[in-house]
Amino acid sequence: MKAAVYYKNGPPDVLQYEDVPDPVCGPGLVLVKVEAISIEGGDTLNRLGGPLLANPHIVGYQCAGTIIEIGDGVTDRAVGDRVVATMMNGSHAELVAVPSLITWEIPDGADIVACACVPVAFGTAHDCLFEFGRLSEGETVLIQAGAGGVGMAAIQLAKRAGATVIATASSLERLKPLLDLGLDHPVDYSQDGWVDEVRQLAGGQGVNLVVDSVGGSTLQKSVACLAYRGRAITVGSAGREFVPFEAGVLGMNNQSLTGVFLGAEIATPRAQAMIGDLVNEVAKGDLTVLVDRTFPLEDAAGAHSFIENRQAIGRVVLIP
Ligand SMILES: NC(=O)c1ccc[n+]([C@@H]2O[C@H](COP(=O)([O-])OP(=O)(O)OC[C@H]3O[C@@H](n4cnc5c(N)ncnc54)[C@H](OP(=O)(O)O)[C@@H]3O)[C@@H](O)[C@H]2O)c1
Repeated sequence: MKAAVYYKNGPPDVLQYEDVPDPVCGPGLVLVKVEAISIEGGDTLNRLGGPLLANPHIVGYQCAGTIIEIGDGVTDRAVGDRVVATMMNGSHAELVAVPSLITWEIPDGADIVACACVPVAFGTAHDCLFEFGRLSEGETVLIQAGAGGVGMAAIQLAKRAGATVIATASSLERLKPLLDLGLDHPVDYSQDGWVDEVRQLAGGQGVNLVVDSVGGSTLQKSVACLAYRGRAITVGSAGREFVPFEAGVLGMNNQSLTGVFLGAEIATPRAQAMIGDLVNEVAKGDLTVLVDRTFPLEDAAGAHSFIENRQAIGRVVLIP
């Protein structure tokens, strides 16, 4: 098969389009002919500095396609099923072999590109807001990096839960498409004074919940946006700035900081059902996936570069 691979970590141009051996469909696995690859925020970070599990390594957490073979013991999937699949690595390829447990059926007639983008972004956003963030109706939530994949999902899920939604991005322009998806207040966090702006938008009291996928110095400012008893969720480091977090600031106002990792939950019946519901809602059009653009898999380097230049709004998808 063809795949976008790399032999060493580095900038987008370490990605090369090459022939590699087909994956083997072992027991419990399904072999998927890939039709759409959602580039996750973690894919660009892994390419930059994550472990190489093989050499060359195929990066990528998520893709969608059609099952062409099932391994011994698989009873819940059949050849011909269209699925969206998650994995620790390997999505940037024409074929993937994954445990059937971490695939979700795509309903007949649904857009495979949109469904390819659901489990990690929407599942993570859902867990950040509800399972760990305990968001309730009437609260105010701040979504950092609202034009990213997790951000676009979190904005929609928070709005329909009855929250007031504030979101940041590196320009107001980047948040414009999110206004139609439930964003109440866009904030440009490249400008000084944005923490005060957020606090004012939240009635001067601060926000009840922050979902922070940026990390670094932004995480410290996320906590500065919180109200008394506010909750902050740290779920990523898209800012690529690895600085220690000063936890002492939480104590004075009985605030909390919780880490979230969907990967640790994804195989549980709860998360399986939650993600299945989200795939179905995207399929029906009740939730929207913003797909900024698609690139051929052959140009995975161009796609990663487009994302890292902070041009993408929502998701960028590779097509094998
Ligand atoms: N823990 C988990 O279970 C989990 C699950 C999913 C994702 N994540 C993590 O969450 C983060 C976001 O994921 P995602 O899929 O939403 O990513 P994404 O779609 O690539 O969006 C990332 C956003 O980060 C912002 N950003 C801020 N500083 C940046 C920088 N220096 N370079 C590039 N972008 C920067 C960009 O928006 P602006 O330009 O508008 O700032 C961009 O829209 C990643 O770190 C990912 O690994 C964690």
